Amino acid sequence: MLPLENREIAKQLRTPHGPHAIQIGEFMERSNKHMYTMCLKHASLKSKENVLEIGPGNGCFVSEFFRETNDISYTGVELSQEMLQVCKNRNSAFIHDRKASFLKGDIMELKLPDNSYDVIIAINVIYFLNPVEVYLNDLIRIIKPGGRMVLGFRDISSMQKLPFVDENFSLYDANRLSEILVNSGFEQVDTKFGTEVIKLPDGRQAELLNCSCLALKGKMA
Ligand SMILES: C[S@@+](CC[C@H](N)C(=O)[O-])C[C@H]1O[C@@H](n2cnc3c(N)ncnc32)[C@H](O)[C@@H]1O
Repeated sequence: MLPLENREIAKQLRTPHGPHAIQIGEFMERSNKHMYTMCLKHASLKSKENVLEIGPGNGCFVSEFFRETNDISYTGVELSQEMLQVCKNRNSAFIHDRKASFLKGDIMELKLPDNSYDVIIAINVIYFLNPVEVYLNDLIRIIKPGGRMVLGFRDISSMQKLPFVDENFSLYDANRLSEILVNSGFEQVDTKFGTEVIKLPDGRQAELLNCSCLALKGKMA
């Protein structure tokens, strides 16, 4: 259980900070493995691909990116200084081997170069990207032609079961998000679904619908 009010959990999930950041990172670590497994399978990373993750949290799932193929190049962009530090510590071997690097900041403010990533992955981050169209315009710019983006998120009906989700979260169902992705210039949006039962911070259980939306920039290379 987290010793925090729901309002505070909501703020912390947006950007873990201060004395509770580590605990929030551990809470996400316990809750989000299923989503990472589903989204990484959907992303189907290939040898030599340049992969960008937005919001890796405490970086506990970075090693999963290397499970299918060991020679991708991984960059994690994290807004929270506390999470960035944990990410770097726990992934020091990947950093040492020049397989992973981490940048601090808001993905949009970093102004990453055009056409520079084969794959962008963001899991449980879309709720905080506002206005979403402005972020998607920037993300499509930095994906290589023929590249892809995978957005992992919990369906609106599931998010509304979580006591700490408040009006500051932007919530979606897969159809709505696909529509927004297509309007932002992405093609061939494919969605996979999975369900899981998780333990809420107050100890109760809830069944959640997890979604992975894969969108292409142009035709598949
Ligand atoms: C709810 S957590 C999800 C962490 C992890 N992806 C997971 O699913 O367990 C959201 C993370 O995204 C980061 N984040 C939110 N908005 C961001 C942005 N605009 N650019 C980079 N990171 C962001 C937050 O600091 C936080 O660590």
